[in-house]
Amino acid sequence: MIRIASGALMLMASSAAIAQNDKVTFYKDIAPIFQENCQECHRPAGTNYGGMIAPMSLVSFEEARPWAKAIAKQVKSRQMPPWDAALEHMGTFSNERVLTEDQIDAIARWVESGTPRGNPKDAPKPKEFKNTGGWMIGEPDLIVPMPEPYAVGDDVDDLYAAFYVDLTDAELPEDTWITGFQCKPGSKIIHHFNCHLLEPVDGKLPPTQGFPDTDKGEIAPQGAGQYLGGVSSGTDANVYPPGFARAFKRGSRVTFDIHYHKEAGPGTGVMDRSEIGFKLSDTPPERILGAAGTQFNFAINIPPKTKDFQLGPISYTYSQMTDIIGLMPHMHMRGARAKYEAFYPDGTSEVLLDVPQYDFAWQTVYYFKDFKRVPAKTRLEYTAWYDNSEEMADVRGFDPQQTVTFGQKSTDEMMMGFVTSSPVPKDSSGP
Ligand code: HEC
Repeated sequence: MIRIASGALMLMASSAAIAQNDKVTFYKDIAPIFQENCQECHRPAGTNYGGMIAPMSLVSFEEARPWAKAIAKQVKSRQMPPWDAALEHMGTFSNERVLTEDQIDAIARWVESGTPRGNPKDAPKPKEFKNTGGWMIGEPDLIVPMPEPYAVGDDVDDLYAAFYVDLTDAELPEDTWITGFQCKPGSKIIHHFNCHLLEPVDGKLPPTQGFPDTDKGEIAPQGAGQYLGGVSSGTDANVYPPGFARAFKRGSRVTFDIHYHKEAGPGTGVMDRSEIGFKLSDTPPERILGAAGTQFNFAINIPPKTKDFQLGPISYTYSQMTDIIGLMPHMHMRGARAKYEAFYPDGTSEVLLDVPQYDFAWQTVYYFKDFKRVPAKTRLEYTAWYDNSEEMADVRGFDPQQTVTFGQKSTDEMMMGFVTSSPVPKDSSGP
């Protein structure tokens, strides 16, 4: 897997290298790398990324050492830390998770030289993580669990379920603003988990409508109100940038909209009690959060046994100056590569995001460190590539003999280029 780009090489050269003849030890060299790049997930009660929970802790030497070979392999192939954007984007996104070449080299040398422990006096101070219990938004101001644990039976393969919580005054005493939230799966069989909010009218909420009726083609609960957002495997929480927030009215209904997916069979049943955690604020937002630029393509037809099958580009043209906040390509098991490219009215163009090795287990939202401000008449193109080959089928476990079309299941496909954006207020200066 080669993902070197010239811009990234320059960055790498500037980071402190460990001289070739120095002995690499765990405490001196490796622990700091693990602290900064791995322990967010690899620690007891580490962060839950849409159901992806790291299988082991990499905090102490004793915990890390047995995994040494696997660690070397995963970091050299850049499977870990999970981050699928091209290296030329290094430094662009706020939630970036990338090791430098020097860090990879140090880990490889530590493993090759027999994982020396070194002197505990060299160890960095243990890193304190604010977020515990799987929350990546910090301790939520309000945690809403599903009303009760829900049993997903042995016979289930795909199940669309809805759970409703009408907030009491004890939970939400007054109207407020949401500045971030996280849908936290309570089991490993959640394909996606969305949150909807319904505001009361004259203090009243309508009756709930039960499970989505899949026989009628429904895939999400009806009448659940405003779609807030959600997670699928590997997704970050939704944390709004400063100045942004969403209204949260007293007496609202929170709807859990969950697609459970697993193989059916004896002993595969699971109990789930998922939660939604909210960060709240009294301050009203200054700006409007939107999705202008988001693009869907439902006309999908991927022939059997094809590699590098391109769909798109599809495009969207901005009618006004807009700040692009985040990008999230979405495909399923055959997703291989995705690209967003901006074509500016002055004739220039720029690749905003290239994901050359898409992994559907890590549905990442790429958040710009500095908003990408695009002028009116900018055309945003979205292109996606799919791999329906026998080699990929072996890795990801699908049937390459199928023609693949649009659908909800992981074995069907999607082509969605999500964009989180905000129109630039008229009085701001910009390009
Ligand atoms: C964003 C969260 C996250 C970060 C950061 C992260 N990991 Fe992981 N890691 C995971 C998850 C989740 C899995 C399990 C993957 C799966 O189930 O497919 C995993 C799996 C692994 C495995 C494979 C374990 C096995 O079962 O064979 C290794 C090795 C590993 N990680 C090492 C690392 C190292 C080293 C770092 C830092 C350089 C790191 N990871 C950073 C979440 C993370």
